[in-house]
Amino acid sequence: MASALTVMFLGFFLWPSVTNAAAPRKPIDVPFQKNYVPTWAQEHIKYINGGTEVQLVLDKSTGTGFQSRGSYLFGHFSMQMKLVPGDSAGTVTAFYLSSQNSEHDEIDFEFLGNRSNQPYILQTNVFTGGKGNREQRIYLWFDPTREYHSYSVLWNMYQVVFFVDDVPIRVFKNSKDLGVRFPFNQPMKIYSSLWNADDWATRGGLEKTDWNKAPFVASYRSFHIDGCEASVNEKVCATQGRRWWDQQEFRDLDGLQYRRLRWVRQKYTIYNYCADRARIPTMPPECARDRDV
Ligand SMILES: *[C@@H]1O[C@H](CO)[C@@H](O)[C@H](O)[C@H]1NC(C)=O
Repeated sequence: MASALTVMFLGFFLWPSVTNAAAPRKPIDVPFQKNYVPTWAQEHIKYINGGTEVQLVLDKSTGTGFQSRGSYLFGHFSMQMKLVPGDSAGTVTAFYLSSQNSEHDEIDFEFLGNRSNQPYILQTNVFTGGKGNREQRIYLWFDPTREYHSYSVLWNMYQVVFFVDDVPIRVFKNSKDLGVRFPFNQPMKIYSSLWNADDWATRGGLEKTDWNKAPFVASYRSFHIDGCEASVNEKVCATQGRRWWDQQEFRDLDGLQYRRLRWVRQKYTIYNYCADRARIPTMPPECARDRDV
């Protein structure tokens, strides 16, 4: 009896790892309401398909945003997004995790819009203990306004991985041994927003938002969260080894994932703070790991 229970218990925590693939499991369709609430300008959020899809609307008066109900310490967080189509120059659509205190941790996806038929830029960043300046920028290998694509973050004690669909586009390894702070003890909420940032976003602020093209609309669905909810029991979340994302195969990328990451580096990366000696004269310590890619 006891052993049967133990097996069930272990099975519960280890279940997704039996697939033996280092990619996080596929999200299922989760309605907005279950995990998220509007943060601001809630009249600019439109619910469609019974709340399984939402649209954020930006017009001259305001943008809008939403956030997760819970705070999480480690896990896998994903969202499917279809970005503002057409002339989206000046707009920024973001999907990020952030802790709430002053020396905060943050994991960012920011999509910088562009003029019609000009490429979006996906900028990522990582803040730890309030320190950021870790921007990387890529072009995508598809038009992110045509169809839904999934954007996700895998976060455990060993690494933070940014995925676009099944492709890891960035890894931030735990480099505590190199004296770099890693997000490990501050629960984060998940946020998304759409706003006007034409002071900096498109070609460094040269391209202004064309309000004649408003409203600007970004669409979302599949509000999957598989994290340890810290508001429920933070100590349990900090305990290592029990959840699927703690398991061996999620502690590092596998061979295929490294190959994909290198492909992104070679073909789509347009900026990497690790290589920007003009802006950051001394190479940040964690960049030593970046070179392994
Ligand atoms: C917008 O398009 C221009 C011209 O192709 C390009 O230089 C720029 O990187 C694109 N993206 C943004 C966000 O500026």
